[in-house]
Amino acid sequence: MTTEDLLDPKVVSSAAEGPLAPLVSVEDYTRMYEASVQDPHRFWAKEGKRIDWITPFTKVKNTSFEPGNIDIRWFEDGTLNVSANCIDRHLEARGDQTAIIWEPDSPEDPALHITYRNLHRSVCRMANVLKGLGVGKGDRVVIYLPMIPEAAYAMLACARIGAIHSIVFAGFSPDALGARINGCDAKVVITADYAPRGGRKTPLKSNTDTALLHCKDDVQCLVVKRTGGQTTWTDRDHDYNALSADASVDCSPEEMSAEDPLFILYTSGSTGQPKGVVHTSGGYLVYAAMTHEVTFDYRDGDVFWCTADVGWVTGHSYIVYGPLANGATTIMFEGVPTYPDAGRFWQVCAKHKVNQFYTAPTAIRALMGAGKEWVEKHDLSDLRLLGSVGEPINPEAWNWYNEVVGKGKCPIVDTFWQTETGGHMLTPLPSTKLKPGAAQQPFFGVRPVVLEPTSGEVIEGNGVEGVLCMGDSWPGQMRTVWGDHARFEKTYFSDYKGYYFSGDGCRRDEDGDYWITGRVDDVINVSGHRMGTAEVESALVAHAKVAESAVVGYPHDVKGQGIYAYVTLMNGEEPSDALRKELETWVRTEIGPIAKPDLIQWAPGLPKTRSGKIMRRILRKIAEDDFGSLGDTSTLADPSVVDDLIENRMNRG
Ligand code: WT7
Repeated sequence: MTTEDLLDPKVVSSAAEGPLAPLVSVEDYTRMYEASVQDPHRFWAKEGKRIDWITPFTKVKNTSFEPGNIDIRWFEDGTLNVSANCIDRHLEARGDQTAIIWEPDSPEDPALHITYRNLHRSVCRMANVLKGLGVGKGDRVVIYLPMIPEAAYAMLACARIGAIHSIVFAGFSPDALGARINGCDAKVVITADYAPRGGRKTPLKSNTDTALLHCKDDVQCLVVKRTGGQTTWTDRDHDYNALSADASVDCSPEEMSAEDPLFILYTSGSTGQPKGVVHTSGGYLVYAAMTHEVTFDYRDGDVFWCTADVGWVTGHSYIVYGPLANGATTIMFEGVPTYPDAGRFWQVCAKHKVNQFYTAPTAIRALMGAGKEWVEKHDLSDLRLLGSVGEPINPEAWNWYNEVVGKGKCPIVDTFWQTETGGHMLTPLPSTKLKPGAAQQPFFGVRPVVLEPTSGEVIEGNGVEGVLCMGDSWPGQMRTVWGDHARFEKTYFSDYKGYYFSGDGCRRDEDGDYWITGRVDDVINVSGHRMGTAEVESALVAHAKVAESAVVGYPHDVKGQGIYAYVTLMNGEEPSDALRKELETWVRTEIGPIAKPDLIQWAPGLPKTRSGKIMRRILRKIAEDDFGSLGDTSTLADPSVVDDLIENRMNRG
């Protein structure tokens, strides 16, 4: 058997021959997976060739998880340009094929079909505009845009000129935006006048103006007109529409090293401020492209829809970089699942004949609640595969997704991964025998390890539970925390030496399939988005009337987890509903709407140990309305506070 035989999936049937055989069969998976972990150099040397290199790499993998020397490099001596891989290399064969279908917030407005050729022009224009503002290789650009084509143009334009983008989700507050602009010392922030979403409009430009009050004077602002609504204009503002109309449609791609940063994306952790996850160019693109093709069984001509926002990593890897590297047609949706009604997702699927649909359990639960008649109104016969991401999918939602949306004929890939991992880590493939609620098996090259949480010992065998770590690197792995490599090591490699620690717990069942059991740190998962409890706490205590606060997650029917805040007021302050509202609004403005506490309980005192450590375990139990099993409370400095908290709990099931 030649190398090619060993690593290639065997049968690829064409659509004309009837139903497609899965791209990777069960036998292929087993054989290729073994090969990928036995000899990662050989496996990734081949996969590395799925993208175009300017200078081909000769070194494949050079990675170390060794304490004190965390160093991750893939394809390190290769050079490439990510935007050329996502655009230019497709021009000859598919210049007139649609690259991006843009579906606007309102179904009354027309969708845009952007061909690879037009994408090329628009990205070059944006790249030249950025160059005109003095942006060059290695400079940082913050993108704070709605889900409009210009967001993709901006990402690819940065990649084209070698600038590093950092996208800030348009739902984040001016404070959060300002912190991220300062965090990476950005030269330019790209924003829009307004962001229409679900029929409402967020004033992005005015948010940006507020954010920039706390930034250096020389940060420039490039403004895209989305609605044409009124905005104020300052000296540092530049009109994107005017500048791009005059800009050249040619911009030659910068030659970048495989390990040059492609983007920074801030994400919440269990402590302190969000950290800037850094992804680099070569390995990330190979991994995003391969997972997009293999997990979703993407074939030429398919229409792929990932409903995420480009403000999250899912949008980076599976709206823009993965699909475009594969020459796919990818949908960019500006709206929300329930506007103008609960049939919107399905209307868009039917309208654009979507073949693969990828969304989050929270959206499925919300739509399930609206009733199946919303789905049945629309023709979903082009759907071939469904995907889920962001949190474990509960069996009820899984079954509804399978039966009502997929009509029992679409495999559901439950993809477990993280901002840090760049692409899928654990996921069934379309050929896998599925288990509802399980991410099941590692992707190629991924080496999951289950560790005993306290001793850190490796737990072998099946039917076991522990914390999920990775035993080796994969090309899509983050490389560092922006400006703080020590924090990178501390966060991911210090609890369990020699391993990458995911922060999640997991179970490996009797068959060897993996089930994610949720975060084991102080990170909660609200509607598939990560929120550090420490972040919400520090926002709350920044309010003048708040003395102390502890935040935990609790089960929430639609969001997966809701935010439960215990708040102790300053002496002399009286609890009231008005103050509760005030605190909710406060957190929204400090961080953004996604961080707004769902429940706030006034706590005259918090349960603390004699050394002053808050006993979160107890607070979690009370928030879950499960105080029958509080465990040992005898070590508390003042056990009586617990009775008060139970009596006044907010979540009564
Ligand atoms: C955390 C990462 C990258 C995807 C979007 C979220 C949880 C993610 C699953 C899944 C169970 C999941 C984990 C993980 N998670 N996907 N399929 N099953 N849990 O990215 O914001 O970086 O959050 O989301 O807890 O650690 P993120």
